[in-house]
Amino acid sequence: MKAFWEQMHASRNLKWLTDSDPKAVLKMHEIEPSAGARILDFGIGTGGMARYLKSQGYWVCSVDISPLAQLRVSGISDMVTSFDKEYPNTDIGIAHLVFQHMCDEDIITALRNMHTSYLSVQFISGKQKDAELRYLRTTERMLNLIQSVYPRAECLWQGSEYWIKGFQNHVCRYANLGTGD
Ligand SMILES: C[S@@+](CC[C@H](N)C(=O)[O-])C[C@H]1O[C@@H](n2cnc3c(N)ncnc32)[C@H](O)[C@@H]1O
Repeated sequence: MKAFWEQMHASRNLKWLTDSDPKAVLKMHEIEPSAGARILDFGIGTGGMARYLKSQGYWVCSVDISPLAQLRVSGISDMVTSFDKEYPNTDIGIAHLVFQHMCDEDIITALRNMHTSYLSVQFISGKQKDAELRYLRTTERMLNLIQSVYPRAECLWQGSEYWIKGFQNHVCRYANLGTGD
């Protein structure tokens, strides 16, 4: 998967990198971080979220599988790292349009490296896989996956269900992850 994402970043393929509008993403996740919050930006894409969060004065740790993506925000984020390294403590983690592209093993590795009070995850959910969404999961499977690493994690909030190409699109916020344990 690393080679695939590196290629998408090298060609700046916006179909895969998305380039989501950071303000719209925060709104969709219903996240209003308090001043100076420490935020985990999981899945850098074109770097828009990192740039926006820094412009608002937050402390940002950006995580991506692709070294090219990491390079893109190296002068912007306070810390830049890979999903398979340990990340520092954060108040809020945002993973927008990433988990549905990750196998169980990689999600578990990423979760083990997270020390965040809240994790807000957008993922396309469902049962029927297709070529582009081969790791599709139900929301229940996603919670089970998260609880396999953080047994006390609970789904605090779930929303923004809409449909893309017939798939359901969820945003879920999970609490009781690593920080403070
Ligand atoms: C669909 S893009 C979304 C980017 C951004 N969050 C947005 O909404 O515009 C997916 C991003 O996740 C990254 N990614 C893919 N697999 C990953 C993994 N295992 N760990 C961390 N990042 C990953 C890709 O390199 C890419 O930057």
